[in-house]
Amino acid sequence: MTTSQSSDVLIIGGGVAGLSLALRIADQARVTILAKAALTEGSSLYAQGGVAAVLNGEEDSFDSHIQDTINAGAGLCHRDTVEFTVREGPAAVNWLIERGVPFSREEHPHNGLEYHLTREGGHSHRRVIHAADATGRAVETTLEGLVRRHPNITLRENHIAIDLITSQKLGRSEGNRCLGAYALDKESGHILAYSSRFLVLAAGGACKAYLYTSNPDTSTGDGIAMAWRAGCRVANMEFVQFHPTCLYHPRAKSFLISEAVRGEGGKLTLPDGTAFMQDHDPRGELASRDIVARAIDYEMKRGGLDYVHLDISHKPADFIKEHFPTIYQRCKDYGYDITRAPIPVVPAAHYTCGGIMTDLSARADLAQLYAVGECSFTGLHGANRLASNSLLECLVFAKAAADDILKQLPAAGPVPEGLPAWDESRVTDPDEQVVVSHNWDELRRGMWSYVGIVRTTKRLQRAQHRVNMLKEEVREFYSNFKVTNDLIELRNLLLVSELIIQSALARRESRGLHFTRDFPQPRSGAPQDTILTPPPPEVSGRRANA
Ligand code: FAD
Ligand code: SIN
Repeated sequence: MTTSQSSDVLIIGGGVAGLSLALRIADQARVTILAKAALTEGSSLYAQGGVAAVLNGEEDSFDSHIQDTINAGAGLCHRDTVEFTVREGPAAVNWLIERGVPFSREEHPHNGLEYHLTREGGHSHRRVIHAADATGRAVETTLEGLVRRHPNITLRENHIAIDLITSQKLGRSEGNRCLGAYALDKESGHILAYSSRFLVLAAGGACKAYLYTSNPDTSTGDGIAMAWRAGCRVANMEFVQFHPTCLYHPRAKSFLISEAVRGEGGKLTLPDGTAFMQDHDPRGELASRDIVARAIDYEMKRGGLDYVHLDISHKPADFIKEHFPTIYQRCKDYGYDITRAPIPVVPAAHYTCGGIMTDLSARADLAQLYAVGECSFTGLHGANRLASNSLLECLVFAKAAADDILKQLPAAGPVPEGLPAWDESRVTDPDEQVVVSHNWDELRRGMWSYVGIVRTTKRLQRAQHRVNMLKEEVREFYSNFKVTNDLIELRNLLLVSELIIQSALARRESRGLHFTRDFPQPRSGAPQDTILTPPPPEVSGRRANA
């Protein structure tokens, strides 16, 4: 079997978390990035609204951004994490500007050209810097150019990491640490062992567990699942954020209509034109996302509707086209002119607030292992993420991880050697791929129906039962057949779904994004995170993929 490949730092993921981390480390260390699709394919590429940071100190303040984040988080934000992230925000944005990200500017009456700041739900000030309505693409393509040119960065695209390699799993006597990862080269079909002194999971979220999602196909929770199997704790997995406004159209798979559309005056209405958000929250369309998504869900169920309307057609057409060129064009492609008429929208799974537990240096529970970006749980988002705080978290914690790794590098010892090759001696080619595609579909439908915006204990138990059955079937499949991309992802999605359901059942209250009819109020007393601890990993000796 093919020999192992080595680097100082192995990063799994090519989103904003992974690429910014790589660039912060690569002048001083050899970095390898694994990305399971093309380098930039991931949620970061599709980010629309922008990056939240305090950039206008005259009107805005750190205290205000901190308070808005904490208010959205419904009692579960970790104050130290929020303060750290918000205070590091301006430097993180300036780092992007210095690297050439073309954020939108606007003529100011007295100061000349200034960066335009937009507004989104839950923010009490304009503080979201953006590149029109395609901020993620502007950031990703700028960072991609730099990463591709960097002599110390090796890129492995279309390589999907399968599992982490730890000293404990190999039965080595040294203290337990992360030694690297196995990854499938999707083009050649070979599985390689990648050894590294440090490993960073930057593998994104898990919203593909749901039938309707704003996320691209890469969001299958691989990072969270790999960390769990390697013995790391995860927290607050029940808090799945549903974005209120995705375009409703049979062909518009995953197309988001940015919250900035509401920030710039867009109104939500029933198909007969009646506005309804004021009935649900005095902030109307700019209430936080959990409230807006639940209000839409309520109105859709009450009226038996397939969608509600979002209307920005009262704004001048030039303004709309300048601020939302991507949304304007995509809607036009589907037959809707947003400058003239409302468009149909529905909520969809958008963001995984929980994840791999880390400290303020992005360290996970296992030595030499870090987690950054959407796969991590830093305590920033609490029970509900504030809009545009995710890209901010990616950038701030990528820097924190980079600083910590570079500090430790000189004393970190050599790259681990002698990692066993992946053992395929007991598996054959899969006989029935339909098992994988069918189970994938069943999982996503079940999660949407039973573990969605409004939950009940009975629905959650039903979902748990189904997931357990599917897990058993997939476990057998995984043990007997060669792994494929779809099988790896399904195995991870099932595990992460199990963690979401387990966490949702454990939270016997409604708070932030988790709403259950059986416990419709928040519990009194100090709110607690839902922390899950995995069973100890099995020692597998030389059969590393057992
Ligand atoms: P991603 O960008 O998702 O990258 C994950 C990477 O990991 C990908 O390269 C993927 O291929 C790779 N990967 C995953 N598993 C494996 C594996 N097993 N092996 C190898 N590689 C793997 N947030 C904001 O703050 N502002 C916004 O305006 C905003 N808009 C959004 C709009 C949309 C449509 C979506 C979907 C999200 C938006 N978000 C926004 C959320 C934000 O974009 C994401 O949370 C953030 O980009 C996550 O970045 P990341 O680097 O952690 O993960
Ligand atoms: C959006 O543009 O509405 C997405 C912003 C976010 O997810 O933070």
